[in-house]
Amino acid sequence: MTWSAEASAAWMDDARRVAREWKLPLYERPRRRGLVQQLGVVASSFLVRSGRGWQLVDAEGELGVSPGIAMLRLKRLASGAQMPDLLVRLAALTAGEVVIDATLGLGADARVLASTVGSTGKVIGLESSKPLAVLMAEGLKLETPWPNSAPIEVHHSAAHAFLKAQPSKSADVVFFDPMFERTKASSPAFAELRRFADMAPLDRATVDEAKRVARRLVLMKSSLPEVFPGLGLEPLSPARNAIVFWGRAVVER
Ligand SMILES: C[S@@+](CC[C@H](N)C(=O)[O-])C[C@H]1O[C@@H](n2cnc3c(N)ncnc32)[C@H](O)[C@@H]1O
Repeated sequence: MTWSAEASAAWMDDARRVAREWKLPLYERPRRRGLVQQLGVVASSFLVRSGRGWQLVDAEGELGVSPGIAMLRLKRLASGAQMPDLLVRLAALTAGEVVIDATLGLGADARVLASTVGSTGKVIGLESSKPLAVLMAEGLKLETPWPNSAPIEVHHSAAHAFLKAQPSKSADVVFFDPMFERTKASSPAFAELRRFADMAPLDRATVDEAKRVARRLVLMKSSLPEVFPGLGLEPLSPARNAIVFWGRAVVER
């Protein structure tokens, strides 16, 4: 945890607060001191507070959090576009519902879910990688929320531990979009995410907990369609030439 080379007093204070609240070691970076030389000496990666908000920086590059990641989808939804967002269509959320995004990542899907349930709804975002959880929790605080969107409540937790602690039928939908070692679809932001992400495969016990917690639906997105049956999910027929596949469990009411 540190700040940019030309940091304002406010960014330094913010970094100190985040270090305290998240129990992260703080590097009191001297003015204009480069960070590259400190990588691998002070830490292998840094969470940096700068005028651009928060970035995760390591020897290979940096990863930031931005509303831009979901902007196209949000604008399309707001315009009532004919081609509905697949996540929105499959989750079929209505205003005021509660959704758990159990694999938050950079929160593109969570932002779309938040706009779908509206300001009376709630999105709970779970992220088991601490650097990513802090990046998201603190990054979202600095953003102007998309109009009429639910707040995204970030928890640093593995999905299984969080879900196990929830009462039965306490959320409308639980959504999973886990990482895969083998993947067909990949973008530059995704490559950056991989270095910080939890790569452990999703297991059946976690999906079973999700089925207990969900009132209506457990939904999963995957680049590998063959994983669904082993997780107790029904694979949905893919579109022609699909690179993303969907599985679900409709929960008995
Ligand atoms: C493919 S990314 C999710 C991308 C996200 N849907 C988005 O739109 O940005 C998967 C994320 O889930 C996290 N993750 C993986 N397994 C997890 C688990 N069991 N519990 C919570 N988070 C997990 C990873 O660290 C990674 O950040």
